[in-house]
Amino acid sequence: MTDKPVLWLPRKVSDATVARARRDYEVILNEADEPSSAEEIIAMSDKIDAVMPCHSEIFSADVVAKLDPRLKIVANHSVGVDHCDLAALGERGIMVTNTPDVLSDATAEIAMLLMLGAARRAVEGDRLVRTGAWDFWSPSFMVGKQTTGARLGIIGMGRVGRAFAKKARGFDMEIHYYNRSRLSLEDEGGATYHDSIESVLQVSDFLSLHCPATSETRHLINDKTLALLPKGAVLVNTARGALVDEAALIRALENGTLMAAGLDCFEVEPGGNPAFGTHESVFMLPHIGSATTRTRDAMGFRALDNLDAFFRGDRPRDALV
Ligand code: DGY
Repeated sequence: MTDKPVLWLPRKVSDATVARARRDYEVILNEADEPSSAEEIIAMSDKIDAVMPCHSEIFSADVVAKLDPRLKIVANHSVGVDHCDLAALGERGIMVTNTPDVLSDATAEIAMLLMLGAARRAVEGDRLVRTGAWDFWSPSFMVGKQTTGARLGIIGMGRVGRAFAKKARGFDMEIHYYNRSRLSLEDEGGATYHDSIESVLQVSDFLSLHCPATSETRHLINDKTLALLPKGAVLVNTARGALVDEAALIRALENGTLMAAGLDCFEVEPGGNPAFGTHESVFMLPHIGSATTRTRDAMGFRALDNLDAFFRGDRPRDALV
């Protein structure tokens, strides 16, 4: 027995995170590294003081209502917290934190990869070379869409949106954005503010989503909003699958509203949408925006910093309730 708080790590976080956690906490690992069900989370709650979940562990109001009072803090290993019912957790007096900042660049890099890969037909090109089916070349072969000088619309100009805008400026893109509130001139970095989503969509040759998934933003991208884009636009989503009506996205690809899409997030995860499988204009990755060694360590350490502050009796830096 020790007097260290008991911390449950329901997913396999980085080795450096586990080593630091073991130094300061009594750690329970989930060796299976499978998402925990509602029942498993509830059953574990009377054995732990703290948990460090990922977006795969769902703390819905139903789950939160049944948690044992022993559990005092949910220190997320993610910036997105749409898997947590913050109101329900707050009402139960359970602290909730997340890991902003540290994953912005890694996620912005993946947004850049998806934007370029979708615009320059990476799936089709890779398949042709890989399968030995590349038997032709001409100036009109595999012509794509260029980013240089094109207009990039960003919905959600938080930390990741701003990191992506910075990288896109290096590609000489003209940045437009919609955000709930206008940024300072310094944070805007020359980007044009739009006070409505409709307005930014109309100028988005490329559109990238960087807002959280909430009941208001669910299916933000749908038949109606897609129709506002310039013809042949490219959509990038590294935020959350719930933002996009995937059936509408397929219709937009088929009718030419969209030239291509780059997706790291899907309505159903893991798994994605098999309907995209026949569309080579969709460049897809399996929700790996923040999956670099450096960023995984930084996320784990940020979650541990929040836990340390909480158990010291301070308000954690990334407290959300
Ligand atoms: C996040 O941090 O929200 C990423 O999507 C990984 O969960």
